[in-house]
Amino acid sequence: MLDFENNDVKNECRMKKIKIQLGRVQETLLLPLVSRAKETQYKKPLLNDTKAVELFEQLDVDRKKLLRNITEIGVHGLAYRAYKMDEAIKVFLQQHPNGKILDIGAGLDTTYYRCDNGKALWYDLDLPDSIALRKQLLPEPNNRVCYIAKSMLDYSWIDDIGDISNGLFITVPGVLPYFKEADVKAFLTTIAHRLKGAEIMFDVISNFGKFFVDMRIKSAGMKEAHLEWAILNPKTVTDWSEHIELVRAVKFFEGIPKSNQRLSTKIAMNFNKLFDMTQMFHLRFV
Ligand SMILES: C[S@@+](CC[C@H](N)C(=O)[O-])C[C@H]1O[C@@H](n2cnc3c(N)ncnc32)[C@H](O)[C@@H]1O
Repeated sequence: MLDFENNDVKNECRMKKIKIQLGRVQETLLLPLVSRAKETQYKKPLLNDTKAVELFEQLDVDRKKLLRNITEIGVHGLAYRAYKMDEAIKVFLQQHPNGKILDIGAGLDTTYYRCDNGKALWYDLDLPDSIALRKQLLPEPNNRVCYIAKSMLDYSWIDDIGDISNGLFITVPGVLPYFKEADVKAFLTTIAHRLKGAEIMFDVISNFGKFFVDMRIKSAGMKEAHLEWAILNPKTVTDWSEHIELVRAVKFFEGIPKSNQRLSTKIAMNFNKLFDMTQMFHLRFV
């Protein structure tokens, strides 16, 4: 069992803990953060995110309650989501070393710390209160990293990103399922039309998966955050616009080594795969 209370990191960051005051959707940023931190401290972690461990230590949250309500499958799911995004970003950066990475709904995401190549430009976009927390805990580390405090539905961020001739990869982890389908459709069709050549990757959930994940979010104390958009087939999205092309759809638990999980987790992972409960869609705008 993990014990965040006895972690070495705690000694390194003996600073005043930071209180969280976020809106009902914004506070969900704690779930991927704690999952990446917890995965990092498993015996054979797939994802190594020491920055997430450090950040989680700095937050003044009811950590016992949060940790108690996050199941092993939930931890692995969110950590593997980050792992799969990282894989795609690293491939993109090999092909576009001077490209741009935009993280929409960045929360306390630590992708930059896991994937930076020393050349790319990084943009983290989130609502103003989430960016304020991010700035407090994780100030922009250098002038290649820029935070944008806006809603993703305020398309003026496209101007903030500027020239994308060296390539743009957009990641949207853990965000779109909170929106209604009409909003997701308007968002994707608008940016596909305006950001031709860019790639985007986001996670999706089926109706069946939504039932389980919603329960988990509620039991972690986030009673007001509801999942809305559920989808199974990427064709639904590519049919929305001639400017959207599918690169690939990948299941969360596909190709994940099975060595470090409990039997119940392995069964849950197979169940998840069998019913396509959670997937990642990787698209290109053409
Ligand atoms: C589940 S958290 C995911 C955080 C982060 N992507 C990660 O994986 O660690 C959802 C994030 O979406 C952000 N969000 C919600 N509505 C948004 C909007 N309209 N525009 C931009 N970000 C939004 C929240 O503030 C929150 O940080």
